[in-house]
Amino acid sequence: MFEECPTLLSRGFVSTRGALVLAGCLLLAGCRQDMHQAPRYDPLEASDFFTDGRASRPLVAGTVARGQLRDDDALYLGKTNGLLVTEFPVTVTAALMARGRERYDVFCAPCHGRTGVGNGMVVQRGFKQPPSYLDPRLVQQPVGYVYDVVTNGFGAMPDYASQIPVLDRWAITAYVRALQVAGHAAVADIPADHRADLGRNPGAGESAAPAAHH
Ligand code: HEC
Repeated sequence: MFEECPTLLSRGFVSTRGALVLAGCLLLAGCRQDMHQAPRYDPLEASDFFTDGRASRPLVAGTVARGQLRDDDALYLGKTNGLLVTEFPVTVTAALMARGRERYDVFCAPCHGRTGVGNGMVVQRGFKQPPSYLDPRLVQQPVGYVYDVVTNGFGAMPDYASQIPVLDRWAITAYVRALQVAGHAAVADIPADHRADLGRNPGAGESAAPAAHH
């Protein structure tokens, strides 16, 4: 009889532990479910908490989010008192120009071509052909013009305000200016110590036949 006690005890212990383990698993499963369905709203989800039924709250009238004041019209609009700026609101450096070239090749060259004459691949595939940047009408525009076209779009061209940040838009504008100068330049305009680079520029003549590259 005494010999059976340890066995009974251990059996009882085992089943108690088993029940605990089972309960623990159920509890853990419950926690896991909570993490998967966190009590938060998805963007623009409906809510019956607010009287207007929207979970996303409108901006409080008369407030500006930190860092979004945009009180510099020349920089953000490319205009002062409603007139296009005639001078860059940023300092044009070699770094800005290099950034402009890189961004131009990403966002503009597909339609306008690497040299800006309007023969990009999208145009070769049938999109409306834009005017060449070398068109005198465009060369004579103030610098704010290109920034304005990129920011607000123009005719068949969509705007790029949401895709290209303000400083990049100015960098691109500077590079378009450079394309316009380059397109009308003579050999004499090139500083003597750089004339030997003619023809070595990796960007030279590329846009004539982009299809030939691939
Ligand atoms: C999807 C093709 C496309 C892309 C990409 C594009 N453009 Fe254009 N762009 C056009 C077309 C088409 C026009 C002519 C629109 C019209 O006259 O209806 C145009 C016109 C222009 C003009 C001249 C507006 C005028 O007064 O005639 C400028 C300047 C210009 N684009 C700059 C840019 C810059 C800078 C970029 C890159 C940020 C860019 N575009 C990207 C298609 C494009």
